[in-house]
Amino acid sequence: MKKVKIGFVGCGSFANMVHYPSLAEMEDVEISGICDINKERLEKTANKYKVEKIYTNYKQMFEELNLDGVYIIMPPHHLYDIVIDALKSNLNVFIEKPPGITLFQTENFANLAVKNGCKTMVGFNRRFIPLLRKTKEIVEKNGPIIQAVSTFYKNMYPNFLYFNGATDILTCDGIHSVDVLRWLCGEVKNVKSIVKSYFSEVANAFNAMIEFENGATGILLTNWTVGKRIHTFEIHSKSISAFVDCDDKALIFRDNKEEPEILLTTEVAKSNERHKFYGYYYEDRHFIDCLKENKEPECNFSDAVKTMELVEKIYKNNISSKMEEKNEGI
Ligand SMILES: NC(=O)c1ccc[n+]([C@@H]2O[C@H](COP(=O)([O-])OP(=O)(O)OC[C@H]3O[C@@H](n4cnc5c(N)ncnc54)[C@H](O)[C@@H]3O)[C@@H](O)[C@H]2O)c1
Repeated sequence: MKKVKIGFVGCGSFANMVHYPSLAEMEDVEISGICDINKERLEKTANKYKVEKIYTNYKQMFEELNLDGVYIIMPPHHLYDIVIDALKSNLNVFIEKPPGITLFQTENFANLAVKNGCKTMVGFNRRFIPLLRKTKEIVEKNGPIIQAVSTFYKNMYPNFLYFNGATDILTCDGIHSVDVLRWLCGEVKNVKSIVKSYFSEVANAFNAMIEFENGATGILLTNWTVGKRIHTFEIHSKSISAFVDCDDKALIFRDNKEEPEILLTTEVAKSNERHKFYGYYYEDRHFIDCLKENKEPECNFSDAVKTMELVEKIYKNNISSKMEEKNEGI
C-alpha cells in the first residue's frame, strides 16, 4: 500500500496533542518530515514519532521531500507566509482555525489554492465529532433543520487576549460555534448581533441571530466572562429536538415524548480518547481520504472564507448602541 507522505510545520502544543497522535496511528500515512524553529520541540517531537528528516527551514523541507500534503500548525499571526509558500509549491495544505487573521488573508489563501489546484482544509473539528455528526443525521431524517443554537461559554477573566492579542476572541475561538451554525443551516441571508465587552477593553461576548437562505434560524450565544467552559448545540427539525454536549452526550426528544433517546459521545466514537471523540482524528482522516481519493475536503479554504465572512458580519451588524458608536466607519 502506498502511504500518504505528510510533512509538518510546527511541533507546538496543539499539534502534539491531536494531529501527531492521530496521523501516527494511521497505517496509510507516513510522517515524512517535520519542521520547527524551536530545536528542542523539533527534536522531542522527532524522537517521539520516530521522524528522521527534521528541518528548521520549511522551504528546504518542501523542496527536499516529495510530500503529498503539509500540516501547518501555527499561531494564526505566523501562518500567512508559510501557507502562501506551501501553496506556491503546489502542496496540499491543512491548517488549524482561525484560517488567517483577517477575511482578506483567508480569501488570498483560497484564491491561490484554487489557482494551483491544491486540496486544502481548516481544522473545524466540531464538524467531525462523531456524536454531533450522528445527531445531525438523525435530526435530518425528519426533514431540514429549521432552528439551531450554538453556545460557547468560557471564563477567561481577566485576561481575554489570545496570542497576546494577535487576534480577537470571535475569530480565534468563537469561530468554532459560528462554523457549526453554517454547517448545520447552510448559506447565510441576514445577521443581527449584540457584541459586548464585559469587564474588558476587548469584545468578549458575541450573540447573534442569523437567518439562513433555506429559512432556518441560527442562534449564537457566547461569552468569555462567565462561569466555566460550556459548549453545546441544539438542532431542531419537525417533531424532533436534539440537545448536544459533545464532551458528554446528546438528548434527542421526539413527538412530545418526555423521555429522550440518549447517545453518549464516547460510545458513538467508540473511544475514550479526546482526540478521537472530539473529532480531531476524524478531521485528519477526512483530509487524508480526500488526498487519496482526489476529493475536495468539506471545509476547504473557499468554505472557510464563508465562515470568516459570517464572523465579519457579526461584528458589522451589531445593534448594541455602545458598539455601534465604536463601529462607525467600518
Ligand atoms: N481546533 C481546536 O480546538 C484548537 C485548540 C487549540 C489550538 N488550536 C489552534 O492550533 C494552532 C497552534 O496553536 P499552538 O498553541 O499549538 O501553538 P504553539 O505556539 O504551541 O506552536 C507553534 C509552533 O510553531 C513553531 N513555529 C513558529 N514559526 C515557525 C516557522 N516559521 N517555521 C517553523 N516553525 C515555526 C513554534 O516554534 C511552535 O513550536 C493555533 O492556530 C490555535 O488556534 C486549535
